[in-house]
Amino acid sequence: MKNDIMLIRKAKREDLEEVLQVERESFDFPWSKGMFEHEVFREEGLFLVARDHRGLLGYTDVIYILEEGHIANLAVRKDARGEGVATLLVLTMIKASMKRGIRFFTLEVRRSNQVAINLYRKFGFEVIGERRNYYMDGEDALIMWTEDAQGPAYIELLEGLEESLHSRAVSFEKGLIYD
Ligand SMILES: CC(C)(COP(=O)(O)OP(=O)(O)OC[C@H]1O[C@@H](n2cnc3c(N)ncnc32)[C@H](O)[C@@H]1OP(=O)(O)O)[C@@H](O)C(=O)NCCC(=O)NCCS
Repeated sequence: MKNDIMLIRKAKREDLEEVLQVERESFDFPWSKGMFEHEVFREEGLFLVARDHRGLLGYTDVIYILEEGHIANLAVRKDARGEGVATLLVLTMIKASMKRGIRFFTLEVRRSNQVAINLYRKFGFEVIGERRNYYMDGEDALIMWTEDAQGPAYIELLEGLEESLHSRAVSFEKGLIYD
């Protein structure tokens, strides 16, 4: 892969060793390999990876329930953070999910995870509630939701984000966003 090109595509089983490495450096209570294997084959959802010449950079996993997309996981390897990888992953995931008819996106995030909260706010997520003692160490989760992603205001927000992305070349798996 050329140095400046990032590929975003659906996760495959052969990505999982690298996914696990990023997962373990990113979370105190990481998912197991079995959990990720399940996500690779889940039909009602989308598990995406971002790769470049360095290998796997990050991933995101969303689960569909009716018209809702529940973001279940998102992480970027430590030495690739701050480069916009998560922004591209979330943008790609949201656009591909919208094509499948998803209208609302939601997630839980640790109250203390300001970096992730900032990222989600960029995508129009608002805090609508909390789950007390949600995590195994007792920390609370904030529950965040988007407005109707199929509405004109949200589509405008996504277009603005797309325009503001730096000019790094990105290629997408055929069919993921563009038919
Ligand atoms: C959260 C995470 C996925 C962000 O990945 P990333 O690729 O570094 O994010 P990006 O470079 O695309 O930055 C996206 C936005 O996140 C926020 N952000 C990123 N780094 C930040 C920092 N050091 N401080 C504050 N906000 C930050 C900003 O809002 C940024 O947008 P901006 O560049 O327009 O200001 C990454 O930090 C990570 O893997 N953390 C550990 C796992 C985790 O917390 N996952 C989320 C669970 S809910």
